[in-house]
Amino acid sequence: MKTIVLFGASSAIAKAYVEHLNNHASQFKVLCVSSSEYSSTPTNTEYFSTDYSAQSLAIFTQHLKDTQAELHQVIIFNGKLYNTQHMPEKKLEDLNADYFNELLNANTLTPLLCLQSILPLLTHKTQCTITALSARVGSINDNELGGWYTYRASKAALNMLFKTAAIELARRAKNTKLILFHPGTTDTELSKPFQKNVPAGKLFTPEFVAGQLFELTNNNPDLKLNGEPAYLDWQGSNIPW
Ligand SMILES: NC(=O)c1ccc[n+]([C@@H]2O[C@H](COP(=O)([O-])OP(=O)(O)OC[C@H]3O[C@@H](n4cnc5c(N)ncnc54)[C@H](OP(=O)(O)O)[C@@H]3O)[C@@H](O)[C@H]2O)c1
Repeated sequence: MKTIVLFGASSAIAKAYVEHLNNHASQFKVLCVSSSEYSSTPTNTEYFSTDYSAQSLAIFTQHLKDTQAELHQVIIFNGKLYNTQHMPEKKLEDLNADYFNELLNANTLTPLLCLQSILPLLTHKTQCTITALSARVGSINDNELGGWYTYRASKAALNMLFKTAAIELARRAKNTKLILFHPGTTDTELSKPFQKNVPAGKLFTPEFVAGQLFELTNNNPDLKLNGEPAYLDWQGSNIPW
């Protein structure tokens, strides 16, 4: 059975994605990887608890090997925007080293370690998309508004690391594709404090975004498994790097 691996599966968008798979693509086995409690387990869905440490992800890799998982799709949902002490910066004086390190760890390093954990499963025969949830604010070219130094930096760095990994994967697993996906502003805990200025019709439900993400990564004639990285928004448009 082909397998879909979802890292950061407690994310509201990830939960909607599991629901979408359950309703529209039940032919896949779904492996939810998360550091949070996970209550619902629909048919064909398995739950793997992790703290994203090297040891824990190594156990996950071994699990994939033991079950001879045939990867069809991997999505890494992990991301953080603020914590109890710090909101995104409005000015340089707001920079804080602890907040910076926490976001770089959650938004940049963790997704790369998740990618590292599935590497032993990838060969030239593997036909698989590997998507990380990025954000448009990670675009260096598209930065008109400024601010949000740490979150921007963490997603820009994520984009750079995935672009770099795509070059390596083109040599090691040529039928894979790395994708950075911007979901648009989506009604989740992450965006709650910033929703009031979102124009009407531009605050998406997790269900809508999950459907777009599924279609764009599974039924997209413009998306070729050719080793070239893609940086796409929720409607499938390319975002400038
Ligand atoms: N919502 C939006 O408007 C929006 C806009 C642009 C981009 N995004 C991106 O979309 C993705 C999903 O966002 P969401 O809105 O669904 O967020 P959410 O519901 O708040 O989910 C948070 C996610 O981040 C993970 N996470 C939290 N703290 C972490 C840490 N310290 N280390 C590693 N992982 C941690 C959680 O993983 P566990 O399952 O392990 O707990 C979960 O996957 C994020 O990458 C976010 O940056 C969202």
